[in-house]
Amino acid sequence: MNIGIFVNSKTGNTLSVAEKLRDKLVSIGHNVALEKIVASNDGEMNIEKIVISNPPSTQGYDMLVFAAPVNGFRLAFVMQAFLRSLPSLEGKLLAGFVTEAFPFPWMGGNQSLKGMEKLVQAKGGTLSATGVVNWRSPDKRDVLITQTIEKIAAISR
Ligand SMILES: Cc1cc2nc3c(=O)[nH]c(=O)nc-3n(C[C@H](O)[C@H](O)[C@H](O)COP(=O)(O)O)c2cc1C
Repeated sequence: MNIGIFVNSKTGNTLSVAEKLRDKLVSIGHNVALEKIVASNDGEMNIEKIVISNPPSTQGYDMLVFAAPVNGFRLAFVMQAFLRSLPSLEGKLLAGFVTEAFPFPWMGGNQSLKGMEKLVQAKGGTLSATGVVNWRSPDKRDVLITQTIEKIAAISR
């Protein structure tokens, strides 16, 4: 399977999970590209004004994974802008995960995933696997990273 992982990460947490996910997917035989989603005006609060630098194409993949941090109890604005800019996601296998500092998914993670699902649905898709990684406690974090990676890998078979 050709899989694209599209990751927005300000301080590297989400990127580190995305890299582990890539390694897992490669180890089970997939071709995986990891694309970083960055904006030339990161920090812009108006989503419509966010400019994604060199937006990577989502074409040519059988499966797409979207990953971003929680910012202010919502999905990071740069990822929101990227998802809004995409062509139809109909017929694609899709997954998504978020990382957050706070210890429980209801402290922004669930809400961010809901936001991601809504944006994906607006493009005709649906998320078949999702995960929230709470960053604060290292032990819990490692368990959540493993669970998220396993859930996403499971739908790729
Ligand atoms: C502007 C800003 C807002 C944030 N808001 C939240 C929040 O609402 N809930 C939360 O749990 N963490 C919040 N965080 C923490 C990040 O979600 C968390 O550190 C995440 O793992 C960072 O991912 P990254 O390193 O990939 O950017 C916020 C961080 C920043 C910089």
